[in-house]
Amino acid sequence: MNGNNLMDYETVALDDEHSALVILDQTLLPGRLELLSLHTAQEIRDAIYLLKVRGAPAIGVAAAFGIYLLTKGIQTEDYAVFYEAFQKQKEYLNSARPTAVNLSWALGRMEQVCVRSQNCPVAEIKNRLREEAVRMKEEDIRVCKAIGEYGLTLVKPGDGILTHCNAGQLATCKYGTATAPIYLGQERGYHFRVYADETRPLLQGARLTAYELYSSGVDVTLICDNMCASVMRNGWINAVFVGCDRVAANGDTANKIGTSVVAAVAGRYHVPVYVCAPTSTIDRNTPTGAEITIEQRPAHEVTDMWYERPMAPEGVKVYNPAFDVTDHDLIAGIVTEYGIAREPYTESLEEIFARKKAAERHKFA
Ligand code: MRU
Repeated sequence: MNGNNLMDYETVALDDEHSALVILDQTLLPGRLELLSLHTAQEIRDAIYLLKVRGAPAIGVAAAFGIYLLTKGIQTEDYAVFYEAFQKQKEYLNSARPTAVNLSWALGRMEQVCVRSQNCPVAEIKNRLREEAVRMKEEDIRVCKAIGEYGLTLVKPGDGILTHCNAGQLATCKYGTATAPIYLGQERGYHFRVYADETRPLLQGARLTAYELYSSGVDVTLICDNMCASVMRNGWINAVFVGCDRVAANGDTANKIGTSVVAAVAGRYHVPVYVCAPTSTIDRNTPTGAEITIEQRPAHEVTDMWYERPMAPEGVKVYNPAFDVTDHDLIAGIVTEYGIAREPYTESLEEIFARKKAAERHKFA
């Protein structure tokens, strides 16, 4: 997993020998490629909160490995004692970030393993938790690849693609979601021209997306967030691909702050906006975007972070929501691993989940 190239590193990995969750510290990129070995609940939660590991799918897999490691150390043969300790760790990790549904989704999946295995010895439950977490990571890679294949049908060679934040390899276990069509297109000679928004205030577009695409030889141009209208008006953009942190049942989508601005501008210039969404990020229990909890982040991320000197008067009021909601009518399609959902999303997303269920039935038949 070590190498000099970013793409040789794994975003999230399990180190069984040292009972550690290993992540690539994304706060140090692009300057330094450094792996972190995390052992304690606080280290794991902090890494998620501080965005050392980030991006909805990567957060989910990190939490799954994390809860496995934390519960592996519980010394008891009594299921009730084990389950109570499991739930305590689960609640703690789940409190790290509220918007990305993959965090609670992954921890919920791990909890289901406990519940289903309650009649097994605790040692066996721990084995099953490990298997489930590993499965989630493998699934993520397959899911991203499938999203890439569907996404690629929406564009043609030579197209200009704009993306916001980082929904790339660094936000997943491989390929990314919004970048998956770009990477697959790259392998197949599509020669896309990609425009990456820098993504204020934490600069995931500049530090991460521009870095990973550039390292992979993709033709990528970095732009400031306030330049998206300009490049669209110039006719340089044929499609927008973005990731998501939670898609509501009606298709309203929470993603990195600024996504809704890009979508509104794209509407003005008739550029289609595609949300790349693993089904793990689609939350059918949330009816519309109005019910999505938006994470609020500290003021210093806007005023000081990444600058040598403060860039605002000390004590000024700051509003720093980490995400915004793009209304479903601004979205031309939601690209999942089971196909592309279109308006009306309430029905088309149901159809996507019906396909998922059928595929799972087929797998276990
Ligand atoms: O705050 P971040 O960096 O975790 O936000 C990430 C995003 O908004 C991504 O677009 C989203 O998680 C999708 S990642 C495939």
